[in-house]
Amino acid sequence: MSLNIVVMAAGKGTRMKSSLPKVLHKLAGRALLRHVLANTASLQADARIVITGHGADQVEAAIGGEGVRFVRQEPQLGTGHAIQQTVPALTAGGSTLILSGDTPLISTATTRALVEACGGERLVLLTIEYADPTGYGRIVRDGEQVKAIVEHKDASDEQRRLRECYTGIMAAPTEALKRWVGQLDNKNAQGEYYLTDIVAMAVAEGVPVVGVKTADETEVLGVNSPSQLAHLERRFQLVQAEALMTAGVRLADPSRFDLRGTLHCGKDVEIDVNCVFEGEVTLGDGVRIGANCVIRNATIGAGARIHEFTHIDGEAAGASVGEGALIGPFARLRPGAKLGAEVHIGNFVEVKNSTLAKGAKANHLAYLGDATVGERVNYGAGSITANYDGANKHRTTIGADVHVGSNCVLVAPVTLGDGATIGGGSTITKDVEPGGLAVARGRQTVISGWSRPKKVK
Ligand code: UD1
Ligand code: CA
Repeated sequence: MSLNIVVMAAGKGTRMKSSLPKVLHKLAGRALLRHVLANTASLQADARIVITGHGADQVEAAIGGEGVRFVRQEPQLGTGHAIQQTVPALTAGGSTLILSGDTPLISTATTRALVEACGGERLVLLTIEYADPTGYGRIVRDGEQVKAIVEHKDASDEQRRLRECYTGIMAAPTEALKRWVGQLDNKNAQGEYYLTDIVAMAVAEGVPVVGVKTADETEVLGVNSPSQLAHLERRFQLVQAEALMTAGVRLADPSRFDLRGTLHCGKDVEIDVNCVFEGEVTLGDGVRIGANCVIRNATIGAGARIHEFTHIDGEAAGASVGEGALIGPFARLRPGAKLGAEVHIGNFVEVKNSTLAKGAKANHLAYLGDATVGERVNYGAGSITANYDGANKHRTTIGADVHVGSNCVLVAPVTLGDGATIGGGSTITKDVEPGGLAVARGRQTVISGWSRPKKVK
């Protein structure tokens, strides 16, 4: 049986008070509308339709290429009017699942259950009981039988006391849906074409109407304002945190944890407070992450320790930290940082597009950019690779067991052979042979009994 998935995303989102269309605002680092599409991606749909209107160009540019078809609704005359625009695009027969682009956390299981209950024959409404139902469409029942949805603004005092509300999510028999939306009018308090009026039409035609109640508020909460967005974000973060803890990850405080992407964790991983994980992050067995770290698109090897206030951002190239490495506090790893086992990167050290072999150490105030660093290298405090000549980037190659003293400048391209030693304060512009000592700085001069200048009175 055919299935259409329609996501309504044409509304203005006035209360966001933003120039960005509401459905492009981000929850856990991902646009609201993308969550809806991702959560229904595994349903075998013949057509996926997103209804756009306000900020249509922006929405279509941001979401295109996900196998969705866009149908424009201009002007926006209500949810029923929105569905009217999709009629020519709906695959005939079967069922149509209708979702809202501003209700991001609807689950795959719930949407699948709605489609199954519909079976191309029944009108299935997802409902929920709210302690405070103000603003929502109320489900009017006669005994168990659903009779209608009445919008809050059109409801009588008695109807406003009903606590069962329509979530904005339904599954309808496609052919009947097409017929019903063609018969809607806008004679109501808001002068809009209400999709919810099709319920009374179904009842009048004798089509079975099923109200499916969900107990999970999080999956049906919509986003209308920055406050609702922030509250839903926190709920979703708690859901993600619980799932990680169930898998054995030890979070110091699940209410101070943020995941904006995917986090894969081995056994005995510990994460202290206020860490943010973005994109794809993998933490091996026994990894410990100190407080206040931000880690994006990176892989951290087993037993590695990431100390407090470390920033790791692999961007597109990725960054990796080897087993048993010690990083931070206050370290910065950038795209293409590939650190081997037992590497030590200390405070205020920046590493970009560089490979460090096993046991290499850069413990204080240093920069390694476009460098290849051998095993057991000791890279002194305050030393930098001068990798950029103002036009091009060049590589620095440092052999195994090299000792770079403090405050050195390695002007790339340059190669330091295995076991070489670089005197502190040197500016190295030429290659150094294996085992050699290079010192490139002014010789020290001492004048005995020096008398300092005195202040003129
Ligand atoms: C709607 C329901 C209400 C339900 C509530 C749940 C109607 C008439 N009412 O009300 O019963 O309790 O959702 O949140 O359907 N949209 C368009 N085009 C339009 C108008 C809206 O695409 O012309 C989209 C919006 O972008 C949004 C969705 O439809 O994604 C819901 O619209 P909204 O205005 O938020 O409906 P509510 O008044 O909240
Ligand atoms: Ca709404």
